[in-house]
Amino acid sequence: MSGSSIVEAHGIRKEFPNMTAPVLDDVSMTIESGEIVALRGPSGSGKSTLLNIIGCLDGPTRGTYWLGGRDVSTLNRRERAWVRLHYIGFVFQSFHLISDNTVLENVTLPLYYAGLDRTEREARAVELLERVGLGHRLNHRPAQLSGGEKQRVAIARSVAAQPRLLLADEPTGALDTKTGNEVMDLLLEMHAARSFTLIIVTHDPEVAEFCHRQIFLRDGKIVTGGSSHAANA
Ligand SMILES: Nc1ncnc2c1ncn2[C@@H]1O[C@H](COP(=O)(O)OP(=O)(O)O)[C@@H](O)[C@H]1O
Ligand SMILES: [Mg+2]
Repeated sequence: MSGSSIVEAHGIRKEFPNMTAPVLDDVSMTIESGEIVALRGPSGSGKSTLLNIIGCLDGPTRGTYWLGGRDVSTLNRRERAWVRLHYIGFVFQSFHLISDNTVLENVTLPLYYAGLDRTEREARAVELLERVGLGHRLNHRPAQLSGGEKQRVAIARSVAAQPRLLLADEPTGALDTKTGNEVMDLLLEMHAARSFTLIIVTHDPEVAEFCHRQIFLRDGKIVTGGSSHAANA
């Protein structure tokens, strides 16, 4: 096991009740700190299920998963929530913003959970929202924004608590090509400035080209790319 790996998964299996076949079957992968990895594969191949396990939203049925040198595969719900809060940011295809909250409130919320006081939360959120070009939209509600703007708010929120790992599940999937490219550029700029590890689920070969490495899933198994060492890829 390499010391700088942030993600080390071995023999991950995921079964859901009432499903005959496992959704993930013997998935092993290594991701080094700072890498940008594309997770690809046909619809239904298990990409989101795998990302949810990597992101500690869910646990594996079997197998081991080390995140940042710590075994997180056996954690309970509450412990996983703690790991997410401290280590992981998420960006989803459908944004998942809180519709009753303002743009500013959406970005300050994770900082509230991280324990920052109000002044610090607002200062950091405003700075991030200016950074993503939305300094003039602080008091808008998500419904008043375009899709690209919503995703920029979601990106600002995802990095607010300075996660070591950022997971994006088809972040450009609901956007037109031009807006999607802008969102990708923003994710890459954030990565360059903040040196987190970035895993992007995508169908788009152009998006995948921005990544250092591509992992392909089919029928719940890794086809290629599971190792960060080129010789074994
Ligand atoms: N909570 C769940 N319960 C039952 N089946 C699920 C659940 N989540 C995903 N699946 C099934 O697992 C398979 C893989 O789904 P998913 O990981 O969403 O694939 P992808 O993101 O690659 O499209 C699909 O057949 C899906 O129906
Ligand atoms: Mg999916």
